[in-house]
Amino acid sequence: MNVRSTPALQRSSASLVLASVAIALVCSPGLARATGDVARGERLYKGCGDCHSITENRVGPMHKGVVGRKAGSVPGYDYSADLKNSGIVWTEDNLDKWLAGPQAMVPETKMFFDVPDAQDRADIIAFLKEKAR
Ligand code: HEC
Repeated sequence: MNVRSTPALQRSSASLVLASVAIALVCSPGLARATGDVARGERLYKGCGDCHSITENRVGPMHKGVVGRKAGSVPGYDYSADLKNSGIVWTEDNLDKWLAGPQAMVPETKMFFDVPDAQDRADIIAFLKEKAR
């Protein structure tokens, strides 16, 4: 008779339950989509970093203050005429649309990069809002 088998079994099923709860939380888009995850957004922003920085113009314009900023308005950056004259203001909704497909929003833009996943976009926008003020 192994008297230890019962508590061991209970322990392992308890951690199984915890693991399932954790997986359910991570995988639930409804919960996470309400507010973007800044830390995750920071990791995802590394993909933008091939062309952008928060503080300097590079291949793309700097992102300092981008949330709420008028499109095409960073001094010293050579925008496409289409983006410069678009009249867009970078609200969170417009950033979401932009990141889903820049060419769908501004056909002649020279940003060729999109973020197909809605949660990724929400996280990146949360990061920009918090860290690129
Ligand atoms: C391959 C290079 C490249 C990558 C990667 C890239 N961008 Fe861009 N981005 C550009 C270029 C170039 C422009 C200028 C577009 C124009 O003038 O039409 C731009 C413009 C923008 C603008 C408009 C800024 C303004 O001042 O009006 C935003 C916002 C933006 N990018 C966000 C992002 C985000 C967020 C990511 C990462 C998810 C990203 N970009 C990834 C090249 C890139």
